[in-house]
Amino acid sequence: MIVTIDGPAGSGKGKIAKYISNKWGFKHLDSGILYRNLAYKILKSQIDIKSTTEIKEIMKEQKNISFRNYKRLRSEKVSKIASIIATHKFVRDHINKFQRNFVNFNKKNSHFVIDGRDIGSVVFRNAELKLYIDVSEQNRAKRRYKQLIDSGEKSIYRQILKDIKLRDKKDKNRSVSPLVIPSGAIIINNNGNFLRTANQINKLIRNI
Ligand code: CDP
Repeated sequence: MIVTIDGPAGSGKGKIAKYISNKWGFKHLDSGILYRNLAYKILKSQIDIKSTTEIKEIMKEQKNISFRNYKRLRSEKVSKIASIIATHKFVRDHINKFQRNFVNFNKKNSHFVIDGRDIGSVVFRNAELKLYIDVSEQNRAKRRYKQLIDSGEKSIYRQILKDIKLRDKKDKNRSVSPLVIPSGAIIINNNGNFLRTANQINKLIRNI
């Protein structure tokens, strides 16, 4: 069984996916980490981000992508590069293949919860339950700001809100796999209390 979670930057997909993983024992795959991993490698190697040849070279070296959530992958610099490289079809094909292999390899003894931007609409279109997480821009910026401050990064709320708007624009308007509400998805309003969101989702999983 696969539960997909899609939604814009900072909507709480990761928190919800982790909650489902702990509560129901599903394996969690955070697809954003895969984009962030590649973005981090690009940042470190100082290649020209506009050069698709150089991005392809880096991808060749990256045989196995780790999906461990290191703090260094969550900086705003990495977020920005991730959303830029995510516009390339060859990058998305590479990362989608990795996700499908991961599920195929583990499917005998696992259920999965997978979060991202195109999981229910493209990567796992036949998933048993598809969720789309909806939160206002202001609430997402507030939460992201708090996250960065709590983790010791310097941060300015207005700048975070601007970055979130920019990333939304990139994610929703790209021609390859834009962020959309997947067909058949249930929209979860995650503006309020997390417990309410969790109860709503638990009910949905119980009824699959
Ligand atoms: O945690 P947050 O929502 O801020 O971002 P993320 O899920 O870690 O994803 C980082 C960036 O990777 C996003 O802004 C997207 O541009 C891209 N991404 C994507 O295009 N497709 C996915 N399935 C996951 C992430």
